[in-house]
Amino acid sequence: MKPNFLRCEYLANPLGIDVRNPRLSWILESEARNQRQTAYQILIASSEDLLQNDEGDLWDSTKIESDQSIQINYQGEPLKSRMFCYWKVRVWDKDNQVSDWSEPAFWSMGLCESEDWKAKWIGAPAKRFYLLRHLFPKKITPSPLLRKSFIIEGKIRRALVYVTALGEYELHLNGTRVGDHFLAPEWTDYDYRVQYQTYDVTELLKEGENVIGAILADGWFAGHIGLTFFWNHTVYGINRRLLLQLTVEQIDGTVKEIKTDSDWKILEAGPIRKADHFKGETYNAQKEQMGWDKPGFDDSQWTKVTVDDKIHKTLVAQQNEPIRIVKEITPIAVTEPKPGIFVFNLGQNIAGWCKIRLGESTCAPNATVTLRHAEMLKDDGTLYTRNLKTATAMDKYILKGTEEREFHPHFTYHGFQYVGVKGLKSGIKPPLDMLTGCAVSSDTPLVGEFECSDPTLNQLWSNILWTQRDNLISVPTDCPQRDERLGWMGDAQVFCQTSIYNMDMAAFYTKWIRDVRDAQMKNGKYPDIVPNTRKHKRILGKMNGAPAWTDAGVIVPWKVYLNYNDKRILEQHFTSVKKLTGYIHSKNPNLIWRKGWGQIAYNDWLNGNDIKAKDYPKKGGAIPKDVFATAYFAHSTELVSKMAEALGMPEEAKFYSALAEKIKEKFTETFITESGQIKGDTQAGYAFALYFNLLPEELRPQAVNNLLRAIEKYDGRISTGFCTTLPMMLELTRWGYNDIAYKLLLSKRFPSWFYMIEQGATSMWERWDGYVKGRGFQSWLMNSFCHYSIGAVGEWMYRTILGINLDETQPGYKHILLKPQPGGTLSWAKGHYNSIIGTINVSWSLEDKVYTLDIIIPANTTATIYILTQDPESVTENDEPIQNSDEIQFLGYENGFASYKIGSGNYKFKSQTA
Ligand code: BGC
Repeated sequence: MKPNFLRCEYLANPLGIDVRNPRLSWILESEARNQRQTAYQILIASSEDLLQNDEGDLWDSTKIESDQSIQINYQGEPLKSRMFCYWKVRVWDKDNQVSDWSEPAFWSMGLCESEDWKAKWIGAPAKRFYLLRHLFPKKITPSPLLRKSFIIEGKIRRALVYVTALGEYELHLNGTRVGDHFLAPEWTDYDYRVQYQTYDVTELLKEGENVIGAILADGWFAGHIGLTFFWNHTVYGINRRLLLQLTVEQIDGTVKEIKTDSDWKILEAGPIRKADHFKGETYNAQKEQMGWDKPGFDDSQWTKVTVDDKIHKTLVAQQNEPIRIVKEITPIAVTEPKPGIFVFNLGQNIAGWCKIRLGESTCAPNATVTLRHAEMLKDDGTLYTRNLKTATAMDKYILKGTEEREFHPHFTYHGFQYVGVKGLKSGIKPPLDMLTGCAVSSDTPLVGEFECSDPTLNQLWSNILWTQRDNLISVPTDCPQRDERLGWMGDAQVFCQTSIYNMDMAAFYTKWIRDVRDAQMKNGKYPDIVPNTRKHKRILGKMNGAPAWTDAGVIVPWKVYLNYNDKRILEQHFTSVKKLTGYIHSKNPNLIWRKGWGQIAYNDWLNGNDIKAKDYPKKGGAIPKDVFATAYFAHSTELVSKMAEALGMPEEAKFYSALAEKIKEKFTETFITESGQIKGDTQAGYAFALYFNLLPEELRPQAVNNLLRAIEKYDGRISTGFCTTLPMMLELTRWGYNDIAYKLLLSKRFPSWFYMIEQGATSMWERWDGYVKGRGFQSWLMNSFCHYSIGAVGEWMYRTILGINLDETQPGYKHILLKPQPGGTLSWAKGHYNSIIGTINVSWSLEDKVYTLDIIIPANTTATIYILTQDPESVTENDEPIQNSDEIQFLGYENGFASYKIGSGNYKFKSQTA
């Protein structure tokens, strides 16, 4: 057994963290069965040499008897700013055999004390931030270039730069762009905290003259952001500022620090004439300053920067994976629906932008070429852009003569599959590869994979994954295309578990849950969007405390805890969730949640009642608001109790579980009629009552029957919305109606997941009826083709088709519940999930009633496995009757599944089915 994949605070070799007692984890690799760790030793050293000599001057844990391989708290010497920590680990296995030391890993500390920051905020002369600006459209001003030249004498050992901006920055050093991050320093509520990034620039520096430079743009700080008010002006500020500190350690031990200060020069208007997330970017190559970021450039025409001493921001190290280009896509087709307008089809709806080659062969001298972006086409083959509303999503390039060049934007992104290109030389046929789609996303590692015998279902999985990618842009956004792109809490909550199956979301949510706490209101409510762009309530409508949206503040950290065994997030967040529950309770002392939200309670958003289509019922889909809200009240209260239990607070746990029980009783008392119906008699209502275990045991079977009847009422179609569709699927499966769940999933009849795919969807639509054959598009006012909520069914696919489930009593996949449940027309399925503790692999097939199941259970975990069979006697493992194995413990046989307890390793099961 060998420890591998060492990580610190969920990241591999992170630079510039500011957690004082970071958590360490590793993955154990072993092919052996029942392998587990019985002890570990961690060595942490201040230099690579010391570590190589097995000297842990920062921390030598010594041999610790423990099976813990994740979330181990650093307990060594106090960590200080700028420190590098090199570490390795070795482990003892079940037979007390010690492993080799792991490969070394490291992390470095950022600038952790506010006194470490000696740099000044710099930029162009300040403009006033008028309150009444919202009444007028915003003027986007060109991006400034900032530069400073400095001399290094002597050899360089290491150089790190700590940098951030109000707005966004692109950093350059000696003619090279630093790092591969985009849209840094990313989105937080800048009034509470601003993230900084750390880059190792040792390789970019040299002895003699060096030049460091930066370009600034509006970004989330100063640019358009969603739903603020009429013109979507920002709420944070308008003066773009840079803050940077470059620390150069030399071989002779001297340390030189280059900081932003009054010595820097600025050119207020560089070649980026306009850059904005919603509006797009304009680049004028004729305004380029050749060599501005290199030594030897004449900056005598540039002016001195303005130093802004009034800014006092809390600076924090970036905790999440940066936004990067995660995929590049060559278009699959190009058409010319109108003379001179070429429409490229990427074949995939992405968030990002295009790189495009322009020059003599395609453009007239000094041509202006525009790129417009859209998710869909109109019937005439031109772009459908109306649903983007005020997000113009237009990039513009002005060429310098005929110079051939690849252009791409720097400070914007769009949600699109189609690109309309205008301004090329007349008569040319643009080649497909003149343009490349660059998908950007917070670079959370892919950890899940799904494949099965049904190609449409594979497409659905791909659409779900893409929609996730497209909407992880520093915060979990609702959509990447229209003028909204906000951290809508309800959407995030509903999709949370699916997102975790697809990608490692631990670092991303750690950052966002802090944003959520920052945004919590004094009375305890969380706003409906985080960061909260509507926080200035005086002039803006209130959007907070909505049932299911505000509950994201409880549900998301709970999922992080369950999936990653992250107790710290619970510790940090516990007081906060208590405040929320306390608020709801205080407003609704009779325990039926009817009061206390802001302007709107969205309810089960975009349910059947919002569908406009022939032959589809107009009414009967929407769950009544109080039923919906009270279900969440019970659920969140129950989660607070479970959090208390996990944190070892039995009294608190008792209090909240008693309260949750009372809410449930009140739910039953208030909403169940004598004939056993739930107020509203909707699919959603029954799904929720079951999903949140709201009903007493004896009423549950009747609720199941009512759910089936409610589905029949819709002629076997879905009428649920954002919040209740996944619960309905999971409950159908839990109560033995997997066949109906599969039918809903695999149905091509409108409204359904497959219907979208039949219409060509490559991402998840916001609305079941975003586009209907014969009827056309839904209202342009709200019709995104890249919203992940309906994709929450991904969780059902992982949990039911692949059967990968966590065990709440042993979080972090220490114990795995594995129950693949074949169904529908599927003849095989396979996939994996790289859990925090190791990779779980599943592959099953059904042929001539023989069920084959191959699985891999990671070292240091155990699993309960459920094998589909009509006859437990028929089950074999590795072609031997399973009874012969003394490693596999039979647990029982129920509802067509034989269950066993197993340890780690590879297994091949076979069984007879009916
Ligand atoms: C967003 C959502 C969000 C909703 C609130 C929409 O405009 O796109 O996804 O949850 O508003 O109801």
